[in-house]
Amino acid sequence: MLNLRYGRPLNFQRWLDENAHLLQPPVNNQQIWADSDFMVTVVGGPNQRSDFHDDPVEELFYQFKGNAYLLLWEDGRYDRVDLREGDVFLLPPHTLHSPQRPEAGSQCLVVERKRPPGEPDALQWCCAACGTLIKRYEMGLTNIVTDLPPVYDTFYASPEEERRCSRCGEIHPGQDFKAWHRTLTRNFT
Ligand SMILES: [Fe+2]
Repeated sequence: MLNLRYGRPLNFQRWLDENAHLLQPPVNNQQIWADSDFMVTVVGGPNQRSDFHDDPVEELFYQFKGNAYLLLWEDGRYDRVDLREGDVFLLPPHTLHSPQRPEAGSQCLVVERKRPPGEPDALQWCCAACGTLIKRYEMGLTNIVTDLPPVYDTFYASPEEERRCSRCGEIHPGQDFKAWHRTLTRNFT
């Protein structure tokens, strides 16, 4: 029998059942195959956040269970893309997005390519009151699960003055994503 690097087909539902404990808080995601060109991840809810991800490659979303949505940000303006159960969506490269998964038990398959050398990812945080960029961090990304948390920690630990909006003075609440979403809802809906 040929030795297939990523193994023989696996039963997706069985994989989901076996990894169910990882697809809920506090982890919320698990990659199916390690060291592959396609980084294939299942992301579960509930999980909400205030950061926006700038990905140099496309991201394919298949929202196969429950509903979720992506907040989008471009040049100070917000938009929203709903991912309803059964939806597939291809997000273009460098489209700043913040996945929101308020539903417990929701599950989404996400496929993205390994990054070409020299093409960094970035995470950024924006003002919920006026849309201005507050902080942006660029980083080389090789592992989706382990490379991002240190960047969150850095932003959350930054002093209030560094989270103050240069345009309107609003202070980004850092880790308190609920407060950030409340301000966003007040100002953009
Ligand atoms: Fe602002």
